[in-house]
Formats: sequence, structure tokens, C-alpha cells
Amino acid sequence: MKLVLLGPPGAGKGTQAVKLSEKLGIPTISTGEIIRNAIKNETPVGKIAKDTIERGELVSDELVLEIVKDRLKDDDCKDGYILDGFPRTLAQAEMMQSVENNIGVDFVINIDVSDDEIVSRLSGRRVCPSCGKTYHVVSLPSSCGDKCEACGEKLIVRKDDSPEVILNRLKVYHELTAPLTRFYDEQKILYTVKGAESLDAVTAQVMDIVGRQRR
Ligand code: AP5
Repeated sequence: MKLVLLGPPGAGKGTQAVKLSEKLGIPTISTGEIIRNAIKNETPVGKIAKDTIERGELVSDELVLEIVKDRLKDDDCKDGYILDGFPRTLAQAEMMQSVENNIGVDFVINIDVSDDEIVSRLSGRRVCPSCGKTYHVVSLPSSCGDKCEACGEKLIVRKDDSPEVILNRLKVYHELTAPLTRFYDEQKILYTVKGAESLDAVTAQVMDIVGRQRR
């Protein structure tokens, strides 16, 4: 099963991807997480991407395509994958489906959330800088206060979750990523869920779509 999770920043793509990955036994490929790790480890990719990601802009289509192609070579992707955060532009969607790259997509789940809800979600998000686990101060607090439940590290606010950068990410989303819904709708592989519902209710909607695809 090869699926794409689409939606605005903070829609819950990463949160749902973790749950889906556990249920389906296929890996999640989060381009945002791969790039953040590259920045942390000061790799060449990290050095190129650091300023861009902190401003809430997109890194180049070519760079992100290479990142995904590289990850897809790993053995754990042979039975399928969940793409979280890729593709994010029409150019990326076209490049991945080209004969040359041939990155398959069976279906796309679009998590629909309003801009107001996005601002509230991203303002309250806390992440573990060590293992990447994500929390929310209201909807998904850590049982260990300001520490990560999984590894005990002190939780932080992502640099791109500052109020100005959130607004820029939303602008970029509406300009460059939202048109992908039409692109996939025309291919008749787009399914939209109501992302403003509770975490479990969104998971139930997502699993319903996945179940129907498997039949
Ligand atoms: P990326 O990490 O992909 O950021 P994003 O798309 O902005 O998505 P987020 O990780 O912010 O949110 P999410 O939808 O995963 O929500 P989450 O589950 O955390 O990319 C970061 C950057 O990398 C980009 O800006 C760009 O620079 C670069 N990049 C990455 N991919 C790229 C590409 N393909 N091309 C070019 N550049 C690229 O949830 C958010 C919060 O809400 C959490 O606190 C969570 O607990 C809470 N929450 C989730 N669901 C619910 C719910 N149903 N109810 C209540 N709270 C909820």
C-alpha cells in the first residue's frame, strides 16, 4: 500500500502517520523530519535547508525528490509506504509519477483543517528534540509534564512554530500545496477527512478509507 498524507501544516499528518504505520506495518517517510535530522546533524543537505525551513519556505523540488528516492531504496519500503509531507508542489507530484522516477501512489488522504485551527494546533505543539515524538499542550499533553514520555528529553517548540512563521507556512500551503487536491481529485484517488475532529475520530476516518482500499 502506497499512500500520501496531504494537508496544511499542523493538520495532523505526522500524528496520523505514526498510528497508520503501526497499524499497517509500513514505514512513514516524513520529508520534514528527514530534513530536520539533517539540520541537527549538520549534513550538507541540512546546511542547504536550515534557513529555508526556519522561514517556513519550501526547499527545492529537486533536493526533496532526491531525499525521498534515497529513502525508498531501503528494504522496509518494499511492501509500501506512507508519504508525509511529500509531494508538496505540483512539480513534485509530476516528478514522482514520471517514468524516470516512478514513485507509486495508490491513494491520497487529505486532512482538511481550517486556518484558525491550524494556528491553535501549531502554537500548542511541543516536540521531543531527541526522538521526534509530538505532543500538544491541550489535546495531547505529555504525562511527564515538559519531558518526553518516550525518552525523558525536555520538550521544545519547533523553530518554524513561531507565530510569524506559522502564517508564512499557511500562505505557502495555499499557494503551492493546496492545488494538489485538484490534481489528485482528477486522478480519482483523493479522499478527504474532517481533520478538525478529535485525534481518534480522525484516525477512524482514515482507517475507514484504508479499509475500503484494501477490499
Ligand atoms: P513538515 O515537518 O512536513 O511540516 P508541515 O507540513 O508544516 O507539517 P507539520 O509537521 O507542521 O504538521 P503535521 O500535519 O504533521 O501535524 P502534527 O501531526 O504534528 O515540513 C517542515 C518543513 O520542511 C517545510 O516547511 C519545508 O521547509 C520542508 N519540507 C518538508 N517537506 C517538503 C517538501 N516536500 N518540499 C519542500 N520542502 C519540504 O499535528 C500538529 C499538532 O496538532 C500536534 O501538536 C498534535 O498533537 C496536534 N493534533 C494533531 N491532530 C489533532 C486533532 N485531531 N485534534 C487536536 N490536536 C491534534
